[in-house]
Amino acid sequence: MRIQDARAIVTGAASGMGRHFALSFARGGAQVVAADVNADALAQLQAEAQGLPGQLHTQLCNVASEDDVVRLVGAAHERMGGLNVLVNNAGIFRDGLLVRADRETGAIKKMSLDQWNAVIAVDLTGPFLCTREFAAKVIEAKAGPAVVVNVSSVSRHGNVGQSNYSAAKAGLVADTALWGKELARYGIRVGAIAPGFVDTPILQGMRPEVLQKMLQGVPLGRAGSTEEIWTGVRFIVECDFFTGRCIDIDGGMSV
Ligand SMILES: NC(=O)c1ccc[n+]([C@@H]2O[C@H](COP(=O)([O-])OP(=O)(O)OC[C@H]3O[C@@H](n4cnc5c(N)ncnc54)[C@H](O)[C@@H]3O)[C@@H](O)[C@H]2O)c1
Repeated sequence: MRIQDARAIVTGAASGMGRHFALSFARGGAQVVAADVNADALAQLQAEAQGLPGQLHTQLCNVASEDDVVRLVGAAHERMGGLNVLVNNAGIFRDGLLVRADRETGAIKKMSLDQWNAVIAVDLTGPFLCTREFAAKVIEAKAGPAVVVNVSSVSRHGNVGQSNYSAAKAGLVADTALWGKELARYGIRVGAIAPGFVDTPILQGMRPEVLQKMLQGVPLGRAGSTEEIWTGVRFIVECDFFTGRCIDIDGGMSV
């Protein structure tokens, strides 16, 4: 599929990678609905997209809410006169060890059930709801071919302090494979990207010495740019023979 033919939904589009993806679709002449929970940042994004060759619409949506997602997909379909791309990008993290014993007192601290549920809701239930509603709409409207891009993470291999996040991002890659198989008969492809460290507000907020230490584990020795991650999204959208797989874009970190 060509980028200029995309009628795309990007979730978590008010910041970081999602913001870059939404603007890139609009720069490429596509129509895009940028969905997020942050209304102010969405308004800024819309202002920035003025004058681009494509069209950028915004929609408030919490991807963990079934009602919001049903509304999002219906509204996006209506506004763009169809739908053929979904980028499941919205994500949060709430890090903590599963259990940790204080060295001196022996007191046990645990990852709370709220911490677990919050991340699973946004990072795994969100893509489930969005993909389900997107696929149902595409099939119902006979709008295929279509493509879903899931944003996973290198953390899916099991990153210390991220029981919740690693489980969600690994689950998303498992669902990429099975949605790829289940939805192929309707002309819907499903792919995933797994970024390593990317230069987004999360990283920009870190202390330089902490960041430096983290980047020592990256063979290419630096964080990726949002543009470098966009090339992965663009590849999955454009390559009509790609489905079911996840592409690591991590500077060699998971090699
Ligand atoms: N930044 C990295 O180094 C990195 C690495 C690997 C994977 N990722 C993944 O990439 C994606 C984007 O990361 P980022 O660094 O650009 O994040 P970010 O925090 O800059 O942006 C995330 C956006 O998602 C939105 N959001 C949060 N909860 C939401 C919800 N319930 N519904 C809708 N929107 C919601 C936020 O408002 C924000 O605009 C995430 O899925 C993240 O897990 C990031």
